[in-house]
Amino acid sequence: MMRTHLCGELDESNVGEQVTVAGWVNRRREHSQHLAFVDLRDHSGIVQCVVDNTVDVRSEYVVKVSGTVTRRPEGTANESLATGQIEITEATVEVLSAAEPPPFPLDERADEVDEMVRLRYRYLDLRRERMQRNLRIHSQVNAAIRAAMVRQGFVEVETPMLMPTTPEGAREFVVPSRQQPGSFYALPQSPQLYKQLLMVGGLDRYFQIARCLRDEDLRADRQYEFMQLDMEMSFVDVDDVLAAVEESVLDAAEAVTGVRPDAVPRIAWHDAMNRFGTDKPDLRFELELIELTDVFAETEFKAFASAGAIKGLNARGAAADWGRNKLDGLTDTAKSFGAKGMVWMKVGAEGDDGVLVLDSPVAKFLSDTERKSLVERTAAEPGDLLLLIADEWHTTCEVLGELRNRLGRPPVNEGPYRYLWVVDFPMFVGVDDATGRPKPGHHPFCHPHPEDIPKLESDPMSVRAWAYDLVLNGWELGSGSIRIHDRELQKRVFAVLGVEDDEAEARFGFFLNPFRYGAPPHGGFAYGMERLVAILAGEENIREIIAFPKPQSGLDPMTGAPTEIDPDQLAELGVRVLPPIE
Ligand code: AMO
Repeated sequence: MMRTHLCGELDESNVGEQVTVAGWVNRRREHSQHLAFVDLRDHSGIVQCVVDNTVDVRSEYVVKVSGTVTRRPEGTANESLATGQIEITEATVEVLSAAEPPPFPLDERADEVDEMVRLRYRYLDLRRERMQRNLRIHSQVNAAIRAAMVRQGFVEVETPMLMPTTPEGAREFVVPSRQQPGSFYALPQSPQLYKQLLMVGGLDRYFQIARCLRDEDLRADRQYEFMQLDMEMSFVDVDDVLAAVEESVLDAAEAVTGVRPDAVPRIAWHDAMNRFGTDKPDLRFELELIELTDVFAETEFKAFASAGAIKGLNARGAAADWGRNKLDGLTDTAKSFGAKGMVWMKVGAEGDDGVLVLDSPVAKFLSDTERKSLVERTAAEPGDLLLLIADEWHTTCEVLGELRNRLGRPPVNEGPYRYLWVVDFPMFVGVDDATGRPKPGHHPFCHPHPEDIPKLESDPMSVRAWAYDLVLNGWELGSGSIRIHDRELQKRVFAVLGVEDDEAEARFGFFLNPFRYGAPPHGGFAYGMERLVAILAGEENIREIIAFPKPQSGLDPMTGAPTEIDPDQLAELGVRVLPPIE
């Protein structure tokens, strides 16, 4: 064996033992004329070694150290180090690999280093405690989730990476086929197609920690490549799917934090929009939307009179923090999210009529009754700042949801953890400009809520889907639905979407035809592993918990990918590269 112990596991119980450890030189310091300190680091921690001063080792040399574990002399213990009570003395050092000086310090100071430099030398960045910890948490989460799924009777099945293009919505990465020049495979946006076919294939309960690829703009919660806990179940209803997913997520959280979160509460999509202005409410702060439509039912103020919905926020005690410029900025934000404008009011002291004075450019347009009701409804007190939006319902909610987040939302990785199920998403959202038909909310294969099926043709926009999302601290962790397994119902949904039979056959035939041979009722879910791991690891960006992520540009500074390829390789693939479109 090359070593007897890990650096970080030595303590006073080892005093007197002859040990051999191996790792990287974290730091070398002079001790005396004859001796030097070498702090040796491996993934488990750091141990101090006292070595002969003539030993030629520098930072990041890879060495093996053998010596005796000794209690440190009185007054020299290092309380901030787990091994701080001991050191390895009379140590001999064998250099296993010399090292050039690293381009940045491999400790917490690297957090301040340009991320492109960290990613260019990711293999060095990974040596740092933060990255070691994050990747190990990721592995713990994978293990806990896999165990939870197997325990619940799920079968792990792998699905192909090379597949046909599918109508799931994101832009796909494609792979040219050498044997079929001019034809392309798509890389999976998700295993959706295959997992449903596994249900037709009688697998009953499937799961996979699946790599998915989507060519979308990269952000804190998005990479081209990511992992989903993907699952599908037969002969189930919504409650069964949510229970199985919840078990795995809570197990993962418990494995990392040591605390099992409470059962996850549920909210209907419509209520989430009304109360939080978003389908991914962050429950860590209050600041709920306040319904004001009825307060202004009789209003003569033009901007309010024509609106479908009027709602507001009461930012308690915030009036003094918001000067004109900042409020103008907030109004611009509201407009960038689709609002025609934003009304703000600073709540002052009581006026002559006994009602709190509202300092606002629009106060003069409101009747006394309206002012009074507004103060009452918002429970306003002097010093509060009221923000009002009047628009059609959806815009009103969404804009206030954004404002709510800007006013109160802590960074996603700050505790506590607040999980939430959002259920009963709408089956259709908005209207397709080209066809004038409703657009699917999730995808066209979601099962409508059974209570709403009779309204499919007469009032499609009010139909709820058996579709649900899991949210954590304002991030969407995952989505799923019960799927349509009945061909007649699928036809009715396509009819609402304006998809004719032959078009459905051409676009989705390969997926739907297998259902002719006996499809069980089924439903499933997928959640983004990186999002869950990042939040559990206390990170704000999923890049921090991925070994080799892509930066926002998508260009990998370490490998140089993507690169041009050899003309012969292109010719073999039947691919000719055109100059970029101007
Ligand atoms: P959806 O498209 O909502 O559903 O994806 C599920 C979850 O995958 C994660 N995710 C991502 N994570 C990192 N980077 C990305 N680019 C990225 N895109 C998605 C999110 C998201 O909530 N087949 C359906 C699920 C189903 O119906 O069973 C699906 O893929 O956390």
